[in-house]
Amino acid sequence: MDNPRGRVTKDGIRIHEPGDFAGMHAAGRLAARILDDVAALIFPGQSTEEIDRRITQMIEEAGATSATIGYRGYQHASCISVNHVVCHGIPGSKIPKWKNETGNRTDDTLKDGDILNIDVTVIVDGWYGDTSRMYVAGKPKPYAERLMQVTHDALMKGIEAVRPGNTFGDIGHAIQSHAEAQRMSIVRDFCGHGLGRVFHAPPNVLHYGRPGTGPVLEEGMFFTIEPMVNLGRPDTRVLSDDWTAITRDKSLSAQFEHSVGVTADGVDIFTLSPAGLFHPTYG
Ligand code: MF3
Ligand code: CO
Ligand code: CO
Repeated sequence: MDNPRGRVTKDGIRIHEPGDFAGMHAAGRLAARILDDVAALIFPGQSTEEIDRRITQMIEEAGATSATIGYRGYQHASCISVNHVVCHGIPGSKIPKWKNETGNRTDDTLKDGDILNIDVTVIVDGWYGDTSRMYVAGKPKPYAERLMQVTHDALMKGIEAVRPGNTFGDIGHAIQSHAEAQRMSIVRDFCGHGLGRVFHAPPNVLHYGRPGTGPVLEEGMFFTIEPMVNLGRPDTRVLSDDWTAITRDKSLSAQFEHSVGVTADGVDIFTLSPAGLFHPTYG
């Protein structure tokens, strides 16, 4: 049974025990460490299939399990979302061509200036660690760099709103106001989620909202915050592979994700980068 101790709120959100934080830290740390090690694999000419192969290897070597292999038919240890791919990009699949590109892309090879999100979820001793961050192949364009910076800062503003007594609407509002103040848009079609001994649990963590609305945060809640921010319109479309989500207007998109827990007086980030590499390194 899923965590027999503890309770579930009227919104279906599990309240975990103080002793459960250690398990989340172990899982989160491994996911973050893998994303640290992935940094060296990102360069023009690299294929997304090879990146995923290495991630699969790292999870195996750590004695952990991939949460995504076999999840609803998904067959990879990571999602790799390049340029205008919003999320759930499939490693090894042809990179879709975006607005500012000429010619068709015919393979899964990174080009100079590509920005990409890599999302990894691992299971360690039954606990789930889910995190994603942005990388650059070569040197990013200034507008891509700004998009990644704003998305990163929006996530961190959301995390700053995590404390008992605040609401999920407060988190969404903090994220949305930061992105929209920079004239960028928040994707509505995907959200963060509760997690713990399960991958996706209540609540839906929206990356937009009004202060004071939504469920009240309580100590012991575990969830992800994973805003997707677009340079253009917020609308998305899923490709015929049933996974890859792209921006409808083919504008660039970025995403960062942390798994967090609510503590007595604030927030505990489970997926902090051991090497301090969460923020993308530019150029
Ligand atoms: N890690 C993603 C998330 O943040 C979920 C990926 S599910 C997959 O929730 F099947 F696409 F891998
Ligand atoms: Co997630
Ligand atoms: Co994720």
